[in-house]
Amino acid sequence: MPGGGKILIVGFGPGSEEHLTQRARDAIVESDVVIGYNTYIKLIQPLLTQQEIIRTGMTEEVVRAQKVVELAKDGHAVSVISSGDAGVYGMAGLVFEVLIEQGWQQGDEPQVEVVPGISATQSCASLVGAPIMHDACTISLSDHLTPWEVIARRVEAAAAADFVIALYNPRSGRRTRQIVETQRILLAHRAAETPVALVKSAYRDGQRIVRTNLADMLDHEIGMLTTVLIGNSMTFWHGDLMITPRGYQRKYDLAVDEQSLQPGERLHSKNEPWALEMTKRLAEEALGRVQE
Ligand SMILES: C[S@@+](CC[C@H](N)C(=O)[O-])C[C@H]1O[C@@H](n2cnc3c(N)ncnc32)[C@H](O)[C@@H]1O
Repeated sequence: MPGGGKILIVGFGPGSEEHLTQRARDAIVESDVVIGYNTYIKLIQPLLTQQEIIRTGMTEEVVRAQKVVELAKDGHAVSVISSGDAGVYGMAGLVFEVLIEQGWQQGDEPQVEVVPGISATQSCASLVGAPIMHDACTISLSDHLTPWEVIARRVEAAAAADFVIALYNPRSGRRTRQIVETQRILLAHRAAETPVALVKSAYRDGQRIVRTNLADMLDHEIGMLTTVLIGNSMTFWHGDLMITPRGYQRKYDLAVDEQSLQPGERLHSKNEPWALEMTKRLAEEALGRVQE
């Protein structure tokens, strides 16, 4: 084996040049070979000069990962590109799985670098304000590789736990029922008016944003290029902005200049009756078990 090869697993962000990180740009520019899904190669076209380009189809991730490993073992610096972040429903995991299958251990050649990118959750959220300000999760509705039963269980758990939810791969030409079923599960836990943003092609040509709610979301176009952001029970619309409060209003008065709690008092347990220590104490007090 020639040695000296390197695999760069690069997330190029939503698709606009200004949202590509400097490291992602350098990694792509410095590679001998760039491998990616056809549409993604087009999105990074301005960075492609002397590199050999290998384009593959959408369902050819395994072939793509095997090719990356083969070329890196032959001594090449190879970038494999994913939209958003390569570690979020991207190529990172699969490349490692192919390497491990071939007996690769951490520290062995080829070297591997995972270059982070802005994932669709962040880019889509930024276009509608601050919807992800509190605990959130991502769920892919694609059941090509994951049994529907598992996906439905996760939707149910996220809905019950009041997570803000970002749905990836919400609907395609053939997968149309998953989003309907997901809405049904969510409506069993959340109000019909729960804010929902449908963000298509964030920061790309064709960007489209629909502001709607849980009950009406299916009245609008949702496709493979859409991320669906679903608010939690506190999320509200302020004009075009979807805002999820962080919880400051429990302790602060956002309308006044001078807070009643002084800085030294703000982390005091008695001012956080909702925190673990205090809820335990209050429960024990109620049961008469507090010992002074
Ligand atoms: C295979 S996943 C790739 C996710 C990607 N690795 C990421 O971190 O954003 C494809 C899904 O990501 C979402 N997505 C990716 N780029 C997007 C964009 N620019 N605008 C809206 N959604 C996007 C869509 O839900 C799409 O179906």
